[in-house]
Amino acid sequence: METLLEQPEQLLGALRHKLGSQAVLIGPEVPARNCNDRSGSMPERPIAVVRPLDAAAVAEAIAACRKARLPFVPQGGLTGLCRGAAPEPGWVAISLERMVGIEEIDRASGTMTVKAGTPLETIQKAADEAGFLFPLDLGSRGSCAIGGNLSTNAGGNRVIRYGMTRELVLGLEVVLPDGSIITNLNKLVKNNAGYDLKHLFIGSEGTLGIITRVVLRLFPKPRSTMSALCALKHYSAVIALLDAARSGLGPLLSAFEVMWPDYWEVITTRAGVRTPVGAGHGLYVLVEAQGTDESLDAPRFQSWLEDLMERGLLEDAAVAQSLAQTQQFWAVRDICAEFSQVLGPRIPYDIGLAVTRMDEFVTRCKAALTAGIRGCESVYYGHIGDGNLHLVAWVTGLTLERQPKPEMDAIVYGLVREMGGSVSAEHGIGTLKKQWLGHARNEAEIALMRTLKAALDPNHLLNPGKVI
Ligand code: LAC
Ligand code: ZN
Repeated sequence: METLLEQPEQLLGALRHKLGSQAVLIGPEVPARNCNDRSGSMPERPIAVVRPLDAAAVAEAIAACRKARLPFVPQGGLTGLCRGAAPEPGWVAISLERMVGIEEIDRASGTMTVKAGTPLETIQKAADEAGFLFPLDLGSRGSCAIGGNLSTNAGGNRVIRYGMTRELVLGLEVVLPDGSIITNLNKLVKNNAGYDLKHLFIGSEGTLGIITRVVLRLFPKPRSTMSALCALKHYSAVIALLDAARSGLGPLLSAFEVMWPDYWEVITTRAGVRTPVGAGHGLYVLVEAQGTDESLDAPRFQSWLEDLMERGLLEDAAVAQSLAQTQQFWAVRDICAEFSQVLGPRIPYDIGLAVTRMDEFVTRCKAALTAGIRGCESVYYGHIGDGNLHLVAWVTGLTLERQPKPEMDAIVYGLVREMGGSVSAEHGIGTLKKQWLGHARNEAEIALMRTLKAALDPNHLLNPGKVI
């Protein structure tokens, strides 16, 4: 008994000796932040947090965990919503919080090489200062880390133009569950020399390796931003507006965010958000375009919108007259990041669906939740241009633990399966959606995922039990 308990302590002590006292926090030294993600579920204390400075130190940490047979979980900004980076009791957290910084901006290649713990916002700002755009953008930009963005293949607000995180990565360095370091800091856009291994690690939620460095693609910085908040009567008009935005704005179209009336009511009446168009409409759409020449782009955007107005597609629309107004428009959409304060405990969903069937889903889901669960309310919004609907559901007055999540899940994911959608469009599976993976992936796909996991991590020590 004693030798079993002694071994991890000795190994962690030796690791601390090797990497330094700041690099290994044991037992009571473990900070609260490393015990949970943002899912709101119960925190779990890891036995230690290792905070390496480079891939070699990550490999040392893995070697110690392997010797002690301790499961280990990689951690970035811990802003995930599905427990992908949350530890379980008895695990070691390998946190990249000290692996922060930009190593290089290569102007000719249009790339930036960064350490995986770097916050997204730091990367956005560094790109901006260098005269480029790094287009990945999401609500948690100030706290999320780029390594976590890769691990979850994060989506966010500008996917319609630039794609998901996967599209923004050219190379990476990763430490495998056996401690070996794979360095592929590729900057070539075209590199078909064998398997493109980076894609194994992007989106695998830290179950196949620990990403330590990343080569990101940079884009030209837009010199004009136009946005409009539109009110429409029916969902068919939203589809027509999306079509018109794609054909009329072409490659300038940078966001297409849709909000249903229940969302509008919550943000205006309960969150006190001031909106540029009034209530009482069927749907609301935030359209944004970014271009290269303000003097040409702004009048074009204006006349594009006026044309839609004349055609009767829009019931109302407000056009931002300044960047500050564009930011106000975005506040209408970004406020949902504060829904926990506004609504109290609630269950968030991020489902994938065919664009044409979104409204049907909303109507059916809302009706089923209301009929099936006493007191259940729900609101709907999302990145509809990308086929990604968000909804949050809650019963007022109940703590998070007492929310009827299993019943809500069954209704929402049952409908997702029936309508051929995905149980996760962008937040991932972690442990919270694991039981529903089979609603979106078939048996052969899940079997291949298991084969890959077993090949890379035969001892199941890296983030075991997550995703599959
Ligand atoms: C959003 C997050 C929840 O789109 O994905 O607001
Ligand atoms: Zn989203």
